[in-house]
Amino acid sequence: MTLFELFSKIKDFAVGFYVYFRGFLFGRKCQSNAKLNGKTVIITGGNTGIGKETALDLASRGAKVIIACRDIEKGNAAVKDICKSVNKPILEVKQLDLASFASIKRFADDVLENERYIHILINNAGVAACKKSNTEDGFEMQFGVNHLGHFLLTNLLLERIKASAPARIVNVASIAHVYGNIDFSDINLEQGYSPIPAYCRSKLANILFTRELAKKIEGTGVNTYCLHPGAVYTGLGQHLGSSSGSCIGSLYESCSRLFFKSPYKGAQTTIYCAVEEKLAFESGYYYWYVCYF
Ligand SMILES: NC(=O)c1ccc[n+]([C@@H]2O[C@H](COP(=O)([O-])OP(=O)(O)OC[C@H]3O[C@@H](n4cnc5c(N)ncnc54)[C@H](OP(=O)(O)O)[C@@H]3O)[C@@H](O)[C@H]2O)c1
Repeated sequence: MTLFELFSKIKDFAVGFYVYFRGFLFGRKCQSNAKLNGKTVIITGGNTGIGKETALDLASRGAKVIIACRDIEKGNAAVKDICKSVNKPILEVKQLDLASFASIKRFADDVLENERYIHILINNAGVAACKKSNTEDGFEMQFGVNHLGHFLLTNLLLERIKASAPARIVNVASIAHVYGNIDFSDINLEQGYSPIPAYCRSKLANILFTRELAKKIEGTGVNTYCLHPGAVYTGLGQHLGSSSGSCIGSLYESCSRLFFKSPYKGAQTTIYCAVEEKLAFESGYYYWYVCYF
């Protein structure tokens, strides 16, 4: 090998690595041009972060998007923002607190009364690494909101989603699941609570739920997917400072500001799972943000 060939190989490798690393870090845009006119979409936590960007994208494809959030004012502010970028979007804000089974039932009753179809349900809302607390119904907060709340919501809406087929249920999980461990004899983590393992456990539950749901709804025309959005700079890390010490909190804040993706890029895998035509014959799988390179 001549010196020139060696340099050329090193250059190719460096360019390849750069492209891969950039993609790994920042992801890409969902390439699907699918239109959603006449379709109804529900997005939990659609008022901010990844959920809001997903709402904006799906509304721009013509869908009616229901932003399900715990604070109506925050939902209305998101609608205002989305209206700046999307021409005449069809948006609705409805109250949903996933830490309360009563609120979830009220929300589902409202939707079932007013929406003939639900074509896409996006279980996106989440809370991470918060101090130990319980939901209104006495479940550990992260497991309760991230998994149990979405589990109940999905089941309450499932017959309507089936009646709207082809339809999709998208669960926003996380790569944090790899550190998750579910001990059914201590479901409320009373024998020892740690904020980050509790988050990982809730995200593992999202993935197991997706896999089991796919089996249960096979042949109904409804597909389900779960995903890791990448590391995204959103409000999700807000509890880290108070639960893990302000040092870790500030370090996380600085790193995420510098190195994490924008919510726009972070929403791309969710959008991909919600609309990509190629996924029409897949269900129960886990996607992450480099999968469609
Ligand atoms: N950001 C990341 O790097 C990352 C990585 C992997 C996975 N994820 C997942 O991505 C999803 C979206 O997170 P994000 O990064 O966009 O975070 P975010 O900006 O903090 O958004 C979280 C959303 O969930 C809502 N929420 C929290 N508790 C709720 C409850 N009890 N009832 C209803 N809604 C509730 C929040 O409402 P409020 O505005 O009222 O607080 C907010 O709308 C989460 O499932 C998260 O686990 C994120």
